[in-house]
Amino acid sequence: MTDLEPVAVLGTGAMGGVVARAFAAAGHPTTAWNRTPQRLADLVAADPAVRPAGTPVAAVEGATVVVLAVFDVAAVHDLLDALGDAVAGATVVNLTSTTPETTRALAARVGEGYLDGAAMSGTRHVGDAAALFLYAGDPVTFAAAESVLRALGTARHVGTDPGAASLWDTALLAVILGAVAGFHHAAALVGDPAARMAEVAVGHLPFVAGVLTQHAVQIDAGRYPVDDGSVAVFAGAVDQLIATSVARGVATDLPDALRAVLDRAITAGHADDGLASVAEVLR
Ligand SMILES: NC(=O)c1ccc[n+]([C@@H]2O[C@H](COP(=O)([O-])OP(=O)(O)OC[C@H]3O[C@@H](n4cnc5c(N)ncnc54)[C@H](OP(=O)(O)O)[C@@H]3O)[C@@H](O)[C@H]2O)c1
Repeated sequence: MTDLEPVAVLGTGAMGGVVARAFAAAGHPTTAWNRTPQRLADLVAADPAVRPAGTPVAAVEGATVVVLAVFDVAAVHDLLDALGDAVAGATVVNLTSTTPETTRALAARVGEGYLDGAAMSGTRHVGDAAALFLYAGDPVTFAAAESVLRALGTARHVGTDPGAASLWDTALLAVILGAVAGFHHAAALVGDPAARMAEVAVGHLPFVAGVLTQHAVQIDAGRYPVDDGSVAVFAGAVDQLIATSVARGVATDLPDALRAVLDRAITAGHADDGLASVAEVLR
């Protein structure tokens, strides 16, 4: 017997499937439902610790945490129609992708107990701390559910506004895509096996992390010392990146975009400020 809280997962696609398995692996009595029964049957065959339910209402019976992981927000509304008041008193965690606006409408519909979530690591690593999940909504509701949600990975509460998880999700995508696009460009430029570039670049990431932390302090203070080079110096470095790319036949779309942002900062009078001053011309 386990005394861990019972949970329910509605929707056992790529995301809901790994979420159900992670809850079950952590020892939570886990019940799952899926619209297409065969998909649920496949999941239960792979992990008999997940109990199948024939309807959404049957799945959530007794669950303190109910996770919704379906295709889109319209499907979430369909599910809420089917659930009626069966989730009253439970924490409803929506992992389905939404926008801040559609999330607020969902939160208003569910009322007390709604948390919005964003799976930042896709389906990878779900069940260990390397998987990052962002949550938004009432902090007291989050605190009460946190020990359960930790079964999925690292759980971070990013705001009381239920739309915050979706906003942060999209914003963090800019960080991830910036790093990934930069890596693709670097690998194309060097032309060696990309694995070599990955090895060296990944080893350099702690430095990049330090830069982000330092820039955050500068942006929050509105002061941009030139410790690591001015905007003008970085504009010169990007020009060099563009010239080197052209010489090797590598597309310059990415460094061109960087140069355009630096130009905007220079026009606004930040040529002799630190690189973080670019933040001033982005909004
Ligand atoms: N996969 C990822 O890495 C990832 C990462 C972050 C966020 N997400 C988000 O997580 C959500 C689920 O993604 P996924 O990758 O699991 O998608 P998926 O593999 O395509 O699964 C979609 C799930 O939604 C169900 N569904 C669709 N319409 C429905 C409806 N009207 N009523 C009830 N159930 C319905 C499907 O049921 P059937 O089996 O019956 O079709 C299936 O269980 C999406 O919003 C996605 O953006 C996914």
